[in-house]
Amino acid sequence: MNMLATTIGGRTFNNCMMNAAGIRCQSKQDLDALVQSDAGAYVTKSATPQKRAGNPSPRMHTLPHGSINSMGLPNNGLDYYLNYVIADQQKRPGTTNFLSVAGTSLADNLAMLHQIQASEYTGFVELNLSCPNVPGKPQVGYDFDRVHTVLDQVFDFYTKPLGVKLPPYFDLVHFDQIAAILNQYPLTFVNSINSIGNALVVDPQSEQVVIRPKGGYGGIGGASVKPTALANVRGLALRLKPEIAIVGTGGILNGVDVFEHILCGASMVQIGTQFGYEGIPLFDRLATELTDIMKKKGYTSIDDFRGKLKTFDD
Ligand code: SIN
Repeated sequence: MNMLATTIGGRTFNNCMMNAAGIRCQSKQDLDALVQSDAGAYVTKSATPQKRAGNPSPRMHTLPHGSINSMGLPNNGLDYYLNYVIADQQKRPGTTNFLSVAGTSLADNLAMLHQIQASEYTGFVELNLSCPNVPGKPQVGYDFDRVHTVLDQVFDFYTKPLGVKLPPYFDLVHFDQIAAILNQYPLTFVNSINSIGNALVVDPQSEQVVIRPKGGYGGIGGASVKPTALANVRGLALRLKPEIAIVGTGGILNGVDVFEHILCGASMVQIGTQFGYEGIPLFDRLATELTDIMKKKGYTSIDDFRGKLKTFDD
């Protein structure tokens, strides 16, 4: 078996690295390029029921250690992505990918999941509970009662493999509280973290914010979020039941970053900001870098070190 292979919900992936939703995965061309790449899977841009233009530009800005964005869920609508993943499933039976959905209301999420449930699609769904960029719509993941309500209603009828994309949490009590809720449901995975939402970047020269939507507020991704991402991956890995796999996202630029996410408990990692900068060759580079680290340490599979981070108390 490939050294970088991983298994989630009984599905095996040849490589534990893939794109993060939103980055180079909005069009058929983007998705075709991911299919041809070394990535272990792809996730589609988070879909709403209908096509959405998203927020006005400028809506993304590069930072010295990452990026700030407030895209506002620009996407081609659920039908576009559902048709794509079903056609891909027919072409490549036995492969699993991730269809991301991000309704801006519970009703929209339930309607999309009903449509997916009734379809031929058998892959994973990533239910995005953490987009910080839709004006007037707070992140569901920060409202624990609402997460409960959403998952109650979803699992009332939805029987295919499903995970949730979470925002970062910043207090250990919040790790306890969200994990206690998530553990009540037959989730296949959780993806942690989405961007660190509602940050503000200021250009001191122009004395202006750097992105237009929401008065300049946006989500931070890239290198600067790695410690927060690792804390969340580890915090959830220690608290979730073993049937729920962790997808680690945030601050991955190189093979060492992938290694650290896996040490903290990730079974799969997603790369957002750096994939945006580097494109498809990223996956080959990361695979080489992670393989080199594993060989030096004598590891032959990611299970040899997944979740085995040591603390000073061990
Ligand atoms: C966006 O489209 O605004 C980004 C999506 C997300 O952060 O979930």
